[in-house]
Amino acid sequence: MAAASVSVQAIVLLAVAAVASAQLSATFYDSSCPRALGTIRSAVTAALGGPPYTVLLGRRDSTTASLSQANSDLPPPGSSLASLISGFARKGLTTTDMVALSGAHTVGQAQCANFRSRLYGESNLNQSDAAALRANCPQSGGNGNLAPMDLETPNTFDGAFFRGLLSQRGVLHSDQQLFSGGSTDALVQSYASNAAQFRNDFAAAMVRMGSVGVLTGSQGQIRLSCSSVN
Ligand code: HEM
Ligand SMILES: *[C@@H]1O[C@H](CO)[C@@H](O)[C@H](O)[C@H]1NC(C)=O
Repeated sequence: MAAASVSVQAIVLLAVAAVASAQLSATFYDSSCPRALGTIRSAVTAALGGPPYTVLLGRRDSTTASLSQANSDLPPPGSSLASLISGFARKGLTTTDMVALSGAHTVGQAQCANFRSRLYGESNLNQSDAAALRANCPQSGGNGNLAPMDLETPNTFDGAFFRGLLSQRGVLHSDQQLFSGGSTDALVQSYASNAAQFRNDFAAAMVRMGSVGVLTGSQGQIRLSCSSVN
């Protein structure tokens, strides 16, 4: 009986240990790979002017991949405001999260194929930008030609992306949807004039987005190649 009770305790302890190791933590790699976090932090700091936030570590890669799920769960650039709001809500993210996270488009570029229909079919596009954008994104061909999504300061993490929306300078249809007479206009106006509010909301939303659908421990794997399962 004594032996049986010890094994039950051992099993309980093992189970607790398994659960504990299968949780995200900011210190997940501190003993197994002590230089990881510092190395990542200095590379990210050198590359991005975005606000700092604590990233919980230890997430695994998926053991499956699905083109159809990626296409159904990731909002396309032709999305309406209503679909952007509902798509983020399905992942437990608020409308404020969605608007703040869209502010990531203060850096980076989009391919012509992703904004062509806006250039040639929409009237709420700033006419001082339209000619230059069309010159680099013809009605046919040039699908991969790039334009920055923040036309004012494309390489700086700031509020200029939101100020651009106030002047109809959104390159993606989905971005301009955030300021086109709907429920998110007021928040865009706020972020356009209050960079600290944007940075603060962005950091909080990145943490929440980072907890969507997390796999830990044996639920996932560490892929040898990021783009395919082992
Ligand atoms: C709100 C829904 C979103 C839509 C519809 C959307 C759509 C797009 C599209 C179409 C591009 C251009 C890709 C290309 O042409 O190759 C893009 C680029 C980008 N997106 Fe988003 N996005 C969304 C949300 C986000 C979020 C939440 C983040 C991160 C917080 C993000 C970060 C970026 C970045 C950094 C780029 C530039 C990539 C580069 O220059 O290589 N986007 N997005
Ligand atoms: C178009 O953008 C310019 C800045 O490039 C701005 O001065 C102008 O007001 C914008 N036009 C509209 C209709 O918002």
